Amino acid sequence: MTQLEDTAKAASNSPRRLYIKNYGCQMNVYDSARMAELLAPLGYSLTVTANDADLVILNTCHIREKAAEKVFSELGQLRRMKEAKARRGGRMILAVAGCVAQAEGAEIIERAPCVDVVVGPQSYHHLPELLARVLRADGAGAIDTSFPVEPKFDLLPKVASPRGVAAFLTIQEGCDKFCSFCVVPYTRGAEYSRPVAEVLAEARRLVRGGAREITLLGQNVNAYHGGGPDGREWRLGELIRQLAEVERLDRIRYTTSHPRDVDDELVAAHRDVPQLMPFLHLPVQSGSDRVLALMNRRHTVADYRRTVDRLRSARPDLALSTDLIVGYPGESCEDFQATMDLADEMRFAQAFSFKYSPRPGTPASSAAHQVPDEVKAQRLAELQVLLGSQQRAFNEACIGHTLPVLLEKPGRHKGQLVGRSPYLQSVHLAAPADRMGDIVPVLITAASANSLSGSLTGVAAE
Ligand code: SAH
Ligand code: SF4
Ligand code: F3S
Repeated sequence: MTQLEDTAKAASNSPRRLYIKNYGCQMNVYDSARMAELLAPLGYSLTVTANDADLVILNTCHIREKAAEKVFSELGQLRRMKEAKARRGGRMILAVAGCVAQAEGAEIIERAPCVDVVVGPQSYHHLPELLARVLRADGAGAIDTSFPVEPKFDLLPKVASPRGVAAFLTIQEGCDKFCSFCVVPYTRGAEYSRPVAEVLAEARRLVRGGAREITLLGQNVNAYHGGGPDGREWRLGELIRQLAEVERLDRIRYTTSHPRDVDDELVAAHRDVPQLMPFLHLPVQSGSDRVLALMNRRHTVADYRRTVDRLRSARPDLALSTDLIVGYPGESCEDFQATMDLADEMRFAQAFSFKYSPRPGTPASSAAHQVPDEVKAQRLAELQVLLGSQQRAFNEACIGHTLPVLLEKPGRHKGQLVGRSPYLQSVHLAAPADRMGDIVPVLITAASANSLSGSLTGVAAE
């Protein structure tokens, strides 16, 4: 009997509680669900609190300093819970997964000795062995931050549990772009695309489990180049067309895309595939060509504008979202003004904006002319006022229109459901719980900065 089977056998006699806390991007959400699935045969079932859990996994993010630091403050609290459980004669295993695990490896255990397992985003399929090692050694930490030659997708169990009405599906991982501020190429490794057949099979399973919307995920999702059944490499546009054939898959989205990888095939998919939702997150980072060059983005503002024009010609109602960084080393007042001007011109329906955060090991962190924090804070505040007003204006423009809304989950109040518009806005409305999973026509009656509300209209949407 292998050690793994041993562990599984022991576990099957004693149900174990698993608590996963997720940080960072949607890819971590997907990975957390896969970890839960991987551990289920060992007797672990998800619980909603860390208190008294047998295994706690922090699935971490390293993108900005704040994100990484959160993990260590959480570990402080978990250490106390772990000690309390030990006093009661129990054992809590603490695992750090995700991008902080990848970036900091063994240092995590040095800084927080309560951690038992450190596992990177490309090696979490080894979790059962790592756990077995910890249980056996009774104390010694187990670390795996390798980039194994075998893609983890080949070794993970097939997606089995339902993922809800709107599901994520990772199709591409890693990044070869090396923007000078970003840790992702180091934490997630080189670009890898899953084969088309595998993606289609997973999409069908998700739909059978009740999903009506799938968001295709990748750090650079439109760099997708997965092996097709015909032996060619397929690009994202072609994959989307194929997914549109999956019955009852009513909505397709993808994120995050890079402006350099928007090819004609993808633009055409926006024109031709009705299931492809008219909302696109397309990070631009800065409105200054000088800063874009320093960032190693390898596109200009004019390139970005052209890309957006092509997309909007294909799909005139396309709503655009973006990411912007202020205070990149060397960013002058004029550079910042150029970012404000671009935001003004683009009318983003939604946007994320960040103060530049120096990340260890990235070229920008050691660049000269770091911008003082007060200046970053002031620029961010100014930009966010503009972005907030654009988002509010976009939302308010929906009032009086009837939008098809996919009902996803219960609302805060009894009798309410929350769904999503095609433009990814949250929509609150009164609707019977058994309508969950339906796409219904909703007359939008009110808008706030972050969401819409409305009422079901009598007409059947689909
Ligand atoms: N793959 C995506 C983004 C991944 S990270 C892309 O290429 O655009 C998500 C966002 O975090 C980035 O778009 C960027 O705006 C922000 N970000 C990344 N590194 C950062 C850093 N060091 N400081 C501040 N923001 C950062
Ligand atoms: Fe990071 Fe995105 Fe640039 Fe890749 S393309 S290095 S993920 S910001
Ligand atoms: Fe964060 Fe890693 Fe995602 S650094 S944004 S969790 S790829």
